[in-house]
Amino acid sequence: MKYRQLGNTNIRVSTITFGAWAIGGWMWGGTERKDALEAILASYDYGVTSIDTAPIYGQGLSEEIVGEALRTLPRDKVQILTKFGMRWNETKGQLAFSSADNSGRPIDIYKYAGKESIIKECEDSLRRLGTDYIDLYQIHWPDSTTPVAETMEALVQLLRQGKIRAAGVSNYSADLMAEAEKTINLASNQVPYSMVERSIEKELVPYCLKHNKAIIAYSPMQRGLLTGKIRPDHVFAPGDHRPGTVFYQPENIRRIDNFLDRLQPLAHSRNAVISQLVLRWTVEQPGITIALAGARNKQQAIQNAKAAYLALTPEDIKYIDGELRSLKLVGEEAAAY
Ligand SMILES: NC(=O)c1ccc[n+]([C@@H]2O[C@H](COP(=O)([O-])OP(=O)(O)OC[C@H]3O[C@@H](n4cnc5c(N)ncnc54)[C@H](OP(=O)(O)O)[C@@H]3O)[C@@H](O)[C@H]2O)c1
Repeated sequence: MKYRQLGNTNIRVSTITFGAWAIGGWMWGGTERKDALEAILASYDYGVTSIDTAPIYGQGLSEEIVGEALRTLPRDKVQILTKFGMRWNETKGQLAFSSADNSGRPIDIYKYAGKESIIKECEDSLRRLGTDYIDLYQIHWPDSTTPVAETMEALVQLLRQGKIRAAGVSNYSADLMAEAEKTINLASNQVPYSMVERSIEKELVPYCLKHNKAIIAYSPMQRGLLTGKIRPDHVFAPGDHRPGTVFYQPENIRRIDNFLDRLQPLAHSRNAVISQLVLRWTVEQPGITIALAGARNKQQAIQNAKAAYLALTPEDIKYIDGELRSLKLVGEEAAAY
């Protein structure tokens, strides 16, 4: 495994970090707790020391499963990245969207990052995770109803109290980061980034490179599509959000699969599978610090961790970039979540 410094902090994180959204089940058509736990533990065996989760993932369930894993892992060798600001049990802030929890009950989700709310959320996360500190605490989505300074003041307080080791943001623009930096020294920004979703390259990547901020790439396999296993007639479990996103429209699945077919000979020659080429390409891009790789079970987790061990040369990356240039997708923006 390769480890990198998280922006300007002294925290070292694994370039392949475990993404714990899908194991929360919510928006992913359910979860298998035993598989999820095995996935986290197997990742650690292959050098994945960092885990990204959030309270909203399964409305506490993902953090609880991570907490269960933490009981058997050495706490000082693991980095826990979690978030705040997506409330399902509070009606303040800005309504983000309506959804259903793992039992099918309707829930309304609010983007809310008021100071008192963050302090409470932090205590709840610490309890679910069974730990007394969080390595990186990130605002999940911008909250247009709360001044950025108020949100950042809460993080300053948590830093002072030692409840969090570093503060980060997620889904923030470069401008919002600059505003937040008037109050706090941010470590990172967690944003969508994959071979087919590269919008951050224009403004955010240059900003983060200039200011030494880590970029944490989320959905690097475009939620499973960039493994090559999804066909246009793929049947998803009820409640799985993926078919509603632009990348999963049948025409885009077809085009992406054709592109991935052209990478097969390279993968084969490196004794690798497509998802490993994809993850490795991601963490080799300028400004990208780590990739959050979601996995539902041990097999996926090990395969993803092994991407870090792949021998991929600069020529290989150039070859992939060349193939990528001829990939054109239909539709405009990716769905936000
Ligand atoms: N900050 C944010 O707003 C935000 C948003 C999204 C994600 N994230 C973070 O980023 C993490 C990763 O993103 P993501 O989970 O959206 O997408 P992803 O990592 O691109 O894809 C994960 C999904 O792909 C499938 N998969 C993973 N490894 C595989 C393998 N080796 N072979 C075949 N299929 C495989 C699994 O789903 P199936 O088996 O069901 O296909 C898995 O749940 C999340 O877990 C979360 O921590 C953050």
